[in-house]
Amino acid sequence: MRKIVILISGRGSNMEAIIRAAQNEKWPARIVAVISNKTDAPGLIFAAQQGIPAVVVASGDYATREAFDAELQRTIDGFSPDLVVLAGFMRILTTGFVAHYAGRMLNIHPSLLPSFVGLSTHRQALAAGVRIHGATVHFVTAELDHGPIVAQAAVPVMPDDTEQILAARVLEQEHIIYPRAIRWFIEDRLSVNDGIVRIAAGQA
Ligand code: GRF
Repeated sequence: MRKIVILISGRGSNMEAIIRAAQNEKWPARIVAVISNKTDAPGLIFAAQQGIPAVVVASGDYATREAFDAELQRTIDGFSPDLVVLAGFMRILTTGFVAHYAGRMLNIHPSLLPSFVGLSTHRQALAAGVRIHGATVHFVTAELDHGPIVAQAAVPVMPDDTEQILAARVLEQEHIIYPRAIRWFIEDRLSVNDGIVRIAAGQA
């Protein structure tokens, strides 16, 4: 049984999609903890309802990024996960932290990377006038919102889209591609060569 720790900062809808997929599809994996850097993250409630340890490591309580990341790492490693999943975890991570989880930490970013890194990706997409937008699951590396791409989903951008409408259209796809990418990881189907991810064929 593989062990997964999910990190969140807020709503946790991706976390919920991952937990449901793990249950419904009977993954050979268990979500062993959900950790939030915000005390009031709504996603903690769902995790606790599922009987999953819902833990807070409050980023506001630490004077430096290094001190917070050290405590976060200690907490995560207490659950000995095979995979760390960032699901709306709104923190810039220190290079030491990222290096510690190299090759075993995934993130989802709400844009078709490498376009639109950082925040307000839907606003960025509307301002750029792109016709296609989307979401990307990638391995986490030292550079923010970069790292080998595991999965992407594209959605059309419509003329009357607002940031909210576009965000909702993208989020629906996030809930599909993130569980799928995690499943590939736990089935040992992902390999990375020169920054390019290959996905081995699965069993039927
Ligand atoms: C998602 O759009 C994710 O791509 C981004 O933050 C949002 C988190 O939403 N990183 P949720 O907490 O998973 O509902």
